[in-house]
Amino acid sequence: MSEMSGVFRVDYDQPDTQTGGACSTQHAWAKVPVEPSSAERAALKDDIRRLLKERDAVMVSHYYVHPDLQDLAEETGGIVSDSLEMARFGRDHAAQTLVVSGVRFMGETAKILSPEKTVLMPDLDATCSLDLGCPVDEFGAFCDAHPDRTVVVYANTSAAVKARADWLVTSSCALDIVRALKDQGQKILWAPDKHLGGYIQRETGADMVFWNGACIVHDEFKAFELAALKQQHPKAKVLVHPESPADVVALADAVGSTSAILKAARDMDATEFIVATDNGMMHKLRSLNPGKTFIEAPTAGNSATCKSCAHCPWMAMNGLAGLAHVLATGANRVEVDPAVIPRARRPIDRMLAFTAALKNGQPVGALVSGIGAA
Ligand code: 13P
Ligand code: SF4
Repeated sequence: MSEMSGVFRVDYDQPDTQTGGACSTQHAWAKVPVEPSSAERAALKDDIRRLLKERDAVMVSHYYVHPDLQDLAEETGGIVSDSLEMARFGRDHAAQTLVVSGVRFMGETAKILSPEKTVLMPDLDATCSLDLGCPVDEFGAFCDAHPDRTVVVYANTSAAVKARADWLVTSSCALDIVRALKDQGQKILWAPDKHLGGYIQRETGADMVFWNGACIVHDEFKAFELAALKQQHPKAKVLVHPESPADVVALADAVGSTSAILKAARDMDATEFIVATDNGMMHKLRSLNPGKTFIEAPTAGNSATCKSCAHCPWMAMNGLAGLAHVLATGANRVEVDPAVIPRARRPIDRMLAFTAALKNGQPVGALVSGIGAA
């Protein structure tokens, strides 16, 4: 790690070849389950439906996981959503077991909010390049170097990093929370996604310093090729997740979280859309908007050094067989150090209280004053 212009820089994807873990994308892809046959799929779904009832369990799935895991979650009384609503749903649901299909930080957030519940994941190696690229020791040093700043971290981080934060945000609420902090005169230390942080700074004008992390999926979207695709589809609206590079965001008709992208597709006056986010989103976009066409934004072209498929390898590690296995055996429990939980919970609770107040039209100023460095 080095410091340039007051910003610490780290490599964000650290291969874990020694331990055989899934920290490199190569290892993650090697653990992606093979597609079951239709007979296997039907049998696995039956098993899962039965086991969910027997275990008093509910499914909590992200929009990027396999369509089977999205559909089954909804069919069985669970949820498919963005990371913010996954956290809220898991906290509020009465089930004693939460089965989180997504990535590790989502399971950890569920456990931090409900330590008394059992939280299971189909594969505990499902991580995130943002989490991998923000080790707590280096992050702590970054915070120590900026004691005058309020620490705002993205949900895609470890429990230990959350424990160093004043605020947690997801892409659904980051703009609102940073704007409210700025209105209170607070200066921000932001981590780990540099693209989302940059977008928020451009939108709010807040005084921010950034960790140098990126999402390996969204970082691959290419502005030059996107502009060319727009020319081929002049009536198409462009929907972009703010983890994408600034030149891609600049071409967007709507920028937002996974749920904001879904809302824009529903509400915008267009029948054709180009979508710059993980292609797991296509399932919901297409099933909720049958008359509309969704095209994946380009991730490779003349300017690319590699081909990316716009799909998160760690999200792809979630499958029906893994889900049935953990429900049957109780394996793959998400554990968070009990000593870390109370401190990690504080920024999450603040985010959930802030977003609930915003949704109910209540004032949020009092919720942000007196917290952080100002
Ligand atoms: P959302 O918070 O929009 O669900 O995004 C989570 C994520 O990991 C995006 O890559
Ligand atoms: Fe992390 Fe990107 Fe995967 Fe989301 S899509 S979990 S940000 S690597």
